[in-house]
Amino acid sequence: MKNFYWGTATSSFQIEGNIKNDFTEWETLGKFRNNGLNPLYENGSNHWLNWKKDFDLIKELNQNSYRFSIEWARIEPERNKYSQSALKQYSEMIDYLHQLNIEPFLTLHHFSHPKWFHELTPWHKKESIFSFCEFAKIIIDLFSDRVNYWISFNEPIVWALAAYGDAKFPPGIKDLKFMMDAIKNMMEAHVCIYDYIKKRNNKAKLGIAKHFIIFKEGRNWFLLDKKVTNRIDVFFNKMLLNAFRQNRLAHWFPTVLKYDSPIKLDNKIDFWGINYYYRIYAQFKFNFKNPIFLFPKEPATDMGWEIYPKGLKKIIKLVAATGKEIFITENGIATNDEGLRKMFIKKHLKVVNKAKSKYNIKGYFYWSLIDNYEWLKGKSKRFGLVRVDYENKFDRIIKPSGFYYAKLIKKYSNKKVVQPVNE
Ligand code: BGC
Repeated sequence: MKNFYWGTATSSFQIEGNIKNDFTEWETLGKFRNNGLNPLYENGSNHWLNWKKDFDLIKELNQNSYRFSIEWARIEPERNKYSQSALKQYSEMIDYLHQLNIEPFLTLHHFSHPKWFHELTPWHKKESIFSFCEFAKIIIDLFSDRVNYWISFNEPIVWALAAYGDAKFPPGIKDLKFMMDAIKNMMEAHVCIYDYIKKRNNKAKLGIAKHFIIFKEGRNWFLLDKKVTNRIDVFFNKMLLNAFRQNRLAHWFPTVLKYDSPIKLDNKIDFWGINYYYRIYAQFKFNFKNPIFLFPKEPATDMGWEIYPKGLKKIIKLVAATGKEIFITENGIATNDEGLRKMFIKKHLKVVNKAKSKYNIKGYFYWSLIDNYEWLKGKSKRFGLVRVDYENKFDRIIKPSGFYYAKLIKKYSNKKVVQPVNE
């Protein structure tokens, strides 16, 4: 057990390359391009071949932990057929992290799926629970003696919204009832995983990395803006936290959604992961199907997001009320301006450092270790502490912000009360 986990986060599909999953299938089918966007996956950041050197960088940059995900499509490319060579490589990767004294945080689901999954047992159907849990059990059997921190799902609501809300992710079905059923099935799969992990290693901890956004009403004088802001805030930020405590998954959004279903979660979660990036404004609009308009007031990053470190404090407070441990499982910025990235890191770490003394926060993971493929945007959005030179054999170059984060880790770990580094 480390005093505090300082690390970086990645996801398999975004960095590994050489993958045949639902996203690469959609790309070949031109489904992303039809949306007016043109992501080019092109082997992500070539991490599958370069993982050892990438892990050396984690060490070099003073981090004591690393959050990554396992690519389901690589392990089970066809239903019930498992790739031993892929499992072997992941096993070697975990061993090497331990060799470097880096604690692995393993995510089982980070948005992508084997191609067969949506055809045979998509998330809106009950059978999905079995399919995913069977895969998870294989991973748990192999790694539970070496992995103490597990994340079942990364951002289940973000994924379900993209897959069943605006249909930009596979399977691309616009149906909000399906969306809620999918979230429910994912949470039932989480419970299946929880029970299994505890049997295999009762010291292991399981959490969910949940995306949180600060929503603010666009016009504070307009009651309907307040109402829609509240509804989206409850849906996005609070619905799952409540479901774990109340054994009930429910949400109501006038003219759009009415869902209320019992679910036996029994608070089976050891920690909540906070993925936090920005604040956004919400306005009511006259449209029965979609009565909400979201926009940033001060876009500052290459994703067009506002930088709002104070929001992290609010989210920590909200999550702390669940009584569970907290990890900041993602926080980062897409930019080519290194001064801006350093400022982003400095301000957010200041919040974390202060909150640590009051709340049960156990770790912070910057998103991301290396530049990678950003889902609908491609490779132009650079979140990494390490630059990936896509044009030049995927070379790695540590950015000034990488060294800066390393310096802050040292400072924050060595003293009790620390002043931020001035730069
Ligand atoms: C996701 C990452 C993504 C990041 C930046 C998070 O929502 O978990 O996969 O790259 O945000 O958009």
